[in-house]
Amino acid sequence: MKQTLASSLESIRDEAIRSLEDIHNLEDLHDWEIAHLGRRGALTQLLRQTGQLAPSQRPAFGKRANAIKAELQQLLEERSALLHERALMHDLEHGAIDVTLPGRHFHRGGIHPSTQTLRNFYEIWSEMGFQVFRSREVEDDAHNFEMLNFPPHHPARDMQDSFYTDRENIILRTHTSPGQIRAMHALSDNGTQPIRVILPGMCFRYEQISARSEVQFTQVEGLAVGRALRFSDLKGTIHEFAKRMFGDSVRVRYRASYFPFTEPSMEVDVECFLCKGQGCSVCKHSGWLEVAGSGMVHPVVLRNGGYDPAIWSGFAFGMGPERLTMLKHGIHDIRYFWSNDIRFLEQF
Ligand code: DAH
Repeated sequence: MKQTLASSLESIRDEAIRSLEDIHNLEDLHDWEIAHLGRRGALTQLLRQTGQLAPSQRPAFGKRANAIKAELQQLLEERSALLHERALMHDLEHGAIDVTLPGRHFHRGGIHPSTQTLRNFYEIWSEMGFQVFRSREVEDDAHNFEMLNFPPHHPARDMQDSFYTDRENIILRTHTSPGQIRAMHALSDNGTQPIRVILPGMCFRYEQISARSEVQFTQVEGLAVGRALRFSDLKGTIHEFAKRMFGDSVRVRYRASYFPFTEPSMEVDVECFLCKGQGCSVCKHSGWLEVAGSGMVHPVVLRNGGYDPAIWSGFAFGMGPERLTMLKHGIHDIRYFWSNDIRFLEQF
C-alpha cells in the first residue's frame, strides 16, 4: 500500500510531463492544469490519501508530492510562456505590417461644384444681410406664373416650358421667383416689415437637353423689400456682390431687358474675369459675361406678396450658379453637372 501510493505519485508525475508535450495551444494547457494541478486533479486526490500511510512515511511522501507539484507548476509556466511566444510569432507572421508600404488612398466624397458655388453665394449674401429662405420645388401655376404677373396665355410663359404633374395646376417650379411671393408672406408680418432674402434651389424646365441647357439647374433668387428702395440700391447691391465674388476691380454693366415680375428689368454683365475684358472664347470675345437678371419688383408682385406698393418698393435678381461655375472652371457642357460622372466630380 505504502509502496503503491509512492509509485502512484511517480506515475502521476510522469504522465503529466508526458502529456504536457502534446499540448500545443493555451486552451488545452488550461485543461491540463485543471486535470493535473486542480483541486480535483490526480495529484490532489492522491494527497488526500496521505492518512493511509504510516506516520513515519508521511513527511517524505508529502515532501515528494510538494516537489512534484512545484515541478509541474514550473513546467506549466514554461509551457505557457512558450505557447504565448508561439502565438505572438504566428500573429506577427500572418498579420504582418509592412511599414514601408505606401499608404492606401482614402477616398473621401467631395462637395459638388454647384454646391461649392452656392456656399460661396451664401457667404457673400449673408455678409450683406440677406437670409436664406427655402421655398418649395413643387409649385402651383399661380405662384410660378400668375402672381408673378404672367397672365394666362401670356407669351412670356413660353420662355419657361414647364413640367406638369398629374395634379391640375401643379408643376415643378421653372425658376426660384415664386419663392419671392412665399418669402413676402412668410417674413413680412402682413406687409409691415422689410425683408432681405436669397432663395437658392433647384428649378426644372421641359427643354431640349444640350450643352447649354439642362432640364434641371439651380438658381439663386434675391429679394429686398423696403420703404424707399430705389434702382440705385439695386445697382449698388449687385455691384457690391460682384466685387466680393470676382474681386474689387470688377466692372459691372446693365442692359435693359424684360421680365414680367420686374419693372424696369435688366440683365447684369460683369467684365470677363478670365480675359479681364480683352475678349476670349469664354466671353465670346465680347469682354463681358452675363451673370444675372434683375429689376425693381413690379407693383403687382408686391401687392400679391401682401405689401402696399404705394409705400413699399423692392428689387430682385436671379442668378445661375451652374453658369458661373462653368465660366469659372471653363466647363463647356452643363450636362456634366448631373450626370454623376465621378471623373468630372473628382476635379473639384
Ligand atoms: N426668374 C428669371 C428666370 O428664371 C430670372 C430673374 C430675372 C429673376 C429677373 C429675378 C429677376 O428675380 O428680377 O429667367
